[in-house]
Amino acid sequence: MPLIEWSDQYSVGLEIFDNEHKKLVAIINELHDSFERGVDRSVTEHALDELVDYTVQHFGHEEQYFDAWGYPEKAAHVISHQQLREQVLEYRASIVAKGSIALALELIVFLRFWLLGHIMSEDKKFCQFLREKGVR
Ligand SMILES: [Fe+2]
Ligand SMILES: [Fe+2]
Repeated sequence: MPLIEWSDQYSVGLEIFDNEHKKLVAIINELHDSFERGVDRSVTEHALDELVDYTVQHFGHEEQYFDAWGYPEKAAHVISHQQLREQVLEYRASIVAKGSIALALELIVFLRFWLLGHIMSEDKKFCQFLREKGVR
């Protein structure tokens, strides 16, 4: 069973970002799956890299829109992204250094909580702003 089941309540109303959020959810689910199946470390590390890369890419993409559309709450949203980026990178480094599956599971649980909370609050607010500007 996937860890996170996508639901329309998570939709931010813009397909471009919904698709990116769905992809993040899929990567988190894959990572979770790989633990449940007990696959070897290289698979887990590969999935972790994918998660880090895609998270960085996704945040960067949202941030391009902040600048392009003059989003007034840019500063706070960028700080949230930065904090998460740092936390994920720290987790990744400890997981690789210690080879700790428990830590990797902790990361996944934390990410589920963080990502859904962030989508439901800051991302929805930002996309509402974009929609009011006519972005579709
Ligand atoms: Fe987002
Ligand atoms: Fe965001």
